[in-house]
Amino acid sequence: MKYVRFHTITIISGLLLVGACRPAAPPVTPQPATKPAVKPIDLTPRVVPQPASLTRGTGAPFVITATTGIVVDAGAGQVQPIGETLAMLLRKSTSFPVLVSQAGGTAAPGTIRLRLANDRQSLGEEGYELTVASDSVVLVAYRPAGLFHGVQTIRQLLPSAIESEIGLERDWAIPALTIADQPRFPWRGGMIDVGRHFLTVREVQQFIDLLALYKMNVLHIHLTDDQGWRIQINSRPRLTAVGSLSQMGGGPGGFFTQQDYTDIVRYAQARYITVVPEIEMPGHSWAALTTYPELTCKPRPPDPYTGPDLGWSALCPDKEVTYAYIDDVIKEVAAITPGPYLHIGGDEVASLSDSQYVKFIGRAQDIVNKYGKVMIGWEEITKAKLKPATIAQMWKSDSVTAALSYGSKLILSPATHAYLDMQYTPETELGLHWSGYVEVRDAYDWNPATFAPGLTESNVLGIEAPIWGETVRNIGAVNYMSVPRLPALAEVGWTPQAGRDWDSFRSRIAAHAPRWRYLGVNYYPSPQIPW
Ligand code: ACM
Repeated sequence: MKYVRFHTITIISGLLLVGACRPAAPPVTPQPATKPAVKPIDLTPRVVPQPASLTRGTGAPFVITATTGIVVDAGAGQVQPIGETLAMLLRKSTSFPVLVSQAGGTAAPGTIRLRLANDRQSLGEEGYELTVASDSVVLVAYRPAGLFHGVQTIRQLLPSAIESEIGLERDWAIPALTIADQPRFPWRGGMIDVGRHFLTVREVQQFIDLLALYKMNVLHIHLTDDQGWRIQINSRPRLTAVGSLSQMGGGPGGFFTQQDYTDIVRYAQARYITVVPEIEMPGHSWAALTTYPELTCKPRPPDPYTGPDLGWSALCPDKEVTYAYIDDVIKEVAAITPGPYLHIGGDEVASLSDSQYVKFIGRAQDIVNKYGKVMIGWEEITKAKLKPATIAQMWKSDSVTAALSYGSKLILSPATHAYLDMQYTPETELGLHWSGYVEVRDAYDWNPATFAPGLTESNVLGIEAPIWGETVRNIGAVNYMSVPRLPALAEVGWTPQAGRDWDSFRSRIAAHAPRWRYLGVNYYPSPQIPW
């Protein structure tokens, strides 16, 4: 309420000055009319990722009050839920009613207006334009995803307390400004590994919330590994009945029913995030092989595996039963995945010959395509002949030349910058360090378009931040490994290179810590950030 109070005091001091002119009045000390009664709140925008263009206005801020409403375009069915999302965020912390209404024409003063504009194609699939003045907030996009991202910007322009679950009294002010924003790359992802340690549906949704706050648009779920199988396959019930009962280091494991998975997909869709399921093959497949030992080339006792070794297990590329099995699995996973992609892993296969591996990847690619999906695999798949639409995910070395020779685009997840399962420093408890330590600045300071010879702005599809699950057992650990590195990588993927600056990032992200505390998000208090 400080802005209201400020105006009230200005008026009162004006009255006092008027009063001072009357002869009978006692002497009063004139008050400077413009001096605020209270320290003004800091309205510096600290948006992450940094918008492509942001111009501060000179006028007063927009202040959300008990009469503020949200107006959405009449007839645009996808705008209403985005308006409701914003209203729900505002209602819980402000305790104001924040009504959402549909209207055409110009919005009444004091409203936040969300509008889809057919003639703003230049904003692309995810861009938006935000204009904030003292009497209105106008958010325009060409597509709903742009409106959703713009709402995240409005959220970050408001005080951190906007994230509170209980009503608080604050100056709910948004600084006057104009933002024109759209992402640098179309793919900005995070990956979680429920194969090593299972996470619940709610935990996965909490990770989705974090992705959404930082305008990321892909959730890659690594659903199977040597240590556990985590997705129900109706035609192969033993995969979960047997293969889900283990996890790394021992413990109960777990799995998602197809309904659970659909709940995750829907939750992500409502936040304009595409779910990419990964069914790991031919390696990292021991949990499946304990239930179908006939699918190995070299049988061994089908005991659950809970250790850390990798590279040793593989489906047998020389047996037709192997392809019948992956057909069954891919068919069902494709059917419950509305997004266009299916990830087959393909990494770290030490127990097959190159010719066996190449044969397997070619057959897997055909099966993924048969069920209408684009295949993605870790960079090792570039040993096989890829179709141009197939996507390689780089993580360690120079697979760029091979990928580009097929016309494939690349997702960049270099372990030295983007692996969120690496320790921040030797002192941080969780994580591994086989690719080195990844402090926040390491996650931030690299340029995807020049990262390796042959890469350009247009053959990079985007970036993705994997959190492998060896040491990560719950959402508290996921968040600690993600924050603040995931926001740093979100900015790598979103903001034009010329608009990125480490000193700017570190001062902006420092201001997000109170927001994470309201949200209950655990984070690493890096000494590189001026908290
Ligand atoms: C990987 O880290 N094995 C993709």
